[in-house]
This record gives sequence, structure tokens and C-alpha cells, in this order.
Amino acid sequence: MKIDDIACSVLKKIKPTDNEKRKLNILVNRALDITNKISKLFKGNAIIVGSFSRDTWLRNKKEFDLFIMFSDEIEKDRLEEYGLHIGKSVIKKLGGKAEISYAEHPYVRGIIGEFLVDIVPCYDMTSSGKIRSSVDRSPLHVKYLKKCLNKELSEQVLLLKQFCNAQNIYGANFPVQGFSGYLCELLIVKYMSFEEVLKDSINWKSGKIIDIENLYEDRNIIKKKFKNEILRVIDPIDSNRNVSAAISSENFFLFKKKSADFLKNPSESFFYRKKIKELNVKEFKRKIDKRKMEIIIIKFKKPNVVDEIFYSQFKKFCKRLDNILMEYEFKVFKNDYIIDENICYALFEMEISELPEIEKRIGPNVFSIHSCEDFFRRYENEENVINGPIIENNNLVFEINRTWKSARKKLNDTLKQEYNILIEKGIPSHIATEISNKFSILSTNQIYTLIEKNKHFAKFLRAFFEPEKLR
Ligand code: CTP
Ligand code: CA
Repeated sequence: MKIDDIACSVLKKIKPTDNEKRKLNILVNRALDITNKISKLFKGNAIIVGSFSRDTWLRNKKEFDLFIMFSDEIEKDRLEEYGLHIGKSVIKKLGGKAEISYAEHPYVRGIIGEFLVDIVPCYDMTSSGKIRSSVDRSPLHVKYLKKCLNKELSEQVLLLKQFCNAQNIYGANFPVQGFSGYLCELLIVKYMSFEEVLKDSINWKSGKIIDIENLYEDRNIIKKKFKNEILRVIDPIDSNRNVSAAISSENFFLFKKKSADFLKNPSESFFYRKKIKELNVKEFKRKIDKRKMEIIIIKFKKPNVVDEIFYSQFKKFCKRLDNILMEYEFKVFKNDYIIDENICYALFEMEISELPEIEKRIGPNVFSIHSCEDFFRRYENEENVINGPIIENNNLVFEINRTWKSARKKLNDTLKQEYNILIEKGIPSHIATEISNKFSILSTNQIYTLIEKNKHFAKFLRAFFEPEKLR
């Protein structure tokens, strides 16, 4: 099938229907009206930002973003206070339900019937000024994209968004770490079509730079400023920002791979999520039998904090456990995690999870006389010494009984402590709170039950054991 035909067919399915457009339009205009009326009292100005403002929203995405711009003379605390007050009043007037959400600043999220709106206060930077928080950029994005996108290009954006969506890499938020809507829009501004983005991406190398407005004369400055970032797309309205900073290297390479596959063999299936088959218990047993590595799963409740903090802590938590295990001579082969229904599961596949009864403590070189004395004294009265001191390759050596022979037991010992001790051991705060309250390390039977009962978990396991090849 030709790419143009595919695009045409896909667009028919992903473009919002006229009915949907009409309904959302009415609501957006009413919301804008009400917000402006209330905001006037506080010298605020309402504006629609995000995909609704440029016709780049996908069908069934029943959301819009309403920002209230304030002069940068008012203080941050006031801005937050006004924002929440106005937001709540607007949602009430619209007959919806409001709740306070948290990102860099608190804002109001309202549910009005089938629609969702975020009402966010920000500073008005549309004339000039220094961006104080990331939301201040959004009105500038509206202005910039109005200039660059037209109806045809907006359709190309929809295709790119849907393509990313289907590969589970749409959105810069955690845990996706993929391509944000604004990034998709900028890529279309740069390459002018969905197909051209894909074609070029095949040649992208790690650290690829896209500076649409040529804000930098010297690319070396970009390289230094956004060091170790896999893709660097300079925000046309703010040279200090890499729009693609959130993309993980896995997702960067996955995008390239999918682009190459699609161009080689174009098909509509690339625009729809592939169904992952759940791994069943029999298959799981077979995997374990073949790989001969123990699976350790730690389970605890998800702390109630913003995702950005939670995911960064969760990653640190896994890394910290990996390090603790290494200190005791265990070895993690691969680690991953899933959060399902507010329960966290951290999975460790162990290269070494059982160790022998005896361990060797290798001391200093025999020529370092003082150090040898210290070493000797440390062990001479130890009960668990089996042999030693002996000399091996000019080093003083003791053979002792090992305290921790099982990684599972060691992890249990590490985690069963109270909060303060967990913090001392380097467990991140919010996770330490949950763990000190309750956690478990799943037994083999509990893992089987989890696989049988929890489809998400069973799919996660399939992806864990059968990851996508990148070439
Ligand atoms: N934004 C941004 N960078 C992000 C996320 C958001 O710059 N990583 C800004 C952009 O100005 C964006 C606006 O916040 O247009 C609204 O973000 P969001 O609602 O997440 O995305 P949309 O662009 O509206 O796309 P979608 O259709 O997915 O809602
Ligand atoms: Ca949006």
C-alpha cells in the first residue's frame, strides 16, 4: 500500500468528528468567556493553549488546556492563589467537578461531563521577559505555531502523534518518556511531512540536533548545554530549552526502528497499538527453566506524590537495591518495574542470587606490615572464621562463614527496617515511607497467582523476556 493511501485512511479514523469538534468548540468558548470575566477582576487574561488551539488533537481526546496569563509584576504566591480561585469558580459555573493537581505549580483540573480541562495560571511573556516556569512558554508556543502550521501540516502532526501513540512513545510524561505533542508539531514544522520526519530519523545519531530557527551559531554550545541528551530539539521560543529532553534512549532508538520498518514495508498497522499477549504461567516456568535465573519481585503501595518525583525515586530505589546486592556479591542481570492500580512491583532477574557457605576476605599485601596487623586483629577473634590467616598470592586471607547466602533474604533484611534506617540506607523518602509501612517479596506461588490474575503484569512480563529488537 502506498504511504499516501495509508495516511488518508488513518486520518479518517483519527481526525476528530464534526460532532466532536462542535461539542468541544461550544464548551471551550463558554469556558474561555467565563474565565475571562472572572480573571478580569484579577487582571488576568485567558487563552487556549495546547493541541486544541491548532487543530492537532486526536479523536476522542476530550481535553483542552486553558491558561490564565498574569502580568509578571505579581508575585508567585498570588499567581497560584488567583489561579486556583479562578479555576475552581470557572468549573463550578460550568457545572463540573474540580480538583487540584500538581506539576511545577498547583493548578485546577476540571471534569465537565465527558471533557477534561486543565486551568493553569502563568506569566504573560508574549511581549518579552524571562520565563519563570515551564508553563509560561505555552502561550508563546501558540503564537509560534499559529505562524508555522496550516491545515495540511496539522494533519501531518496528527499522523505523527498517532504513529508515536501506537508505539507507546507519545508523551513526555513519566513513565512514557517519549515524544510530546509539541515536539511532534515542531518536527512537522521542520520536515513539512510525517513521511519526511520518518525518513530523516533513520539517519539520526545519538545526540541529534534540530535547531529550526537557527538560534545557535555554534553547535558545540548546544552539545555542551544539553550534554548526554539523546535528541536535542531547540525550542524556537526559548533557546535554553531542549523540547525533547524527556526522551529516553530506548524510545529514541525505538522510533528510528519503527520508522525504518514502516518505510520498508508501509502498513496501517503501525498506527494502532499492537496487542501484547500475556505471558502465562507455563511460559513463565519455561523461561525460568531456560534462563536459570531467579526472579525477585518486591511489592509495595505507590506513594501519593507527583509522578515526576515518584518515578525518579523509584528508579533510584531500584539502583540502590542493585548496589546493595552487589556489595554482598550478588548480581542483578536485569531490572524493570511496573505500577498497576497503585501497586508498585520492582522486578530483579538475578545472575547471582545464591552464594556458597564460605567467603574469602582478602587482606593487604604481606609487605604492608601495619595493615596486615590491623587486618589480622580484626578477624582473629571472629567466630565465623573457618580458615586463616593464610597467605595467597602474597595477600593475607581469611575464609569465613558467609552471613548472606540468599539475595532474597538480604533484600528482606534491608527493607524490613523502620523509616529512619531505610533513609540511612539510601532508600528514597517517599518509597521509604511506604516500605516501612508495608512491603512484600513475592514467593514463587504468589508470582504465579499474579501472572494468572493480573493481565497488565502478564503483558509486562512478556515484554520483559521478549524485548523488541532494535535492528
Ligand atoms: N508542553 C511543553 N512540553 C511538554 C508538555 C507540554 O512545552 N513536555 C506545553 C506545550 O506548549 C503544549 C502545552 O504545554 O502545547 C499543553 O501540553 P499537553 O496538553 O501535554 O499537550 P498538547 O500539545 O496539548 O497535546 P495533546 O493533544 O496530547 O494534549
Ligand atoms: Ca492538551
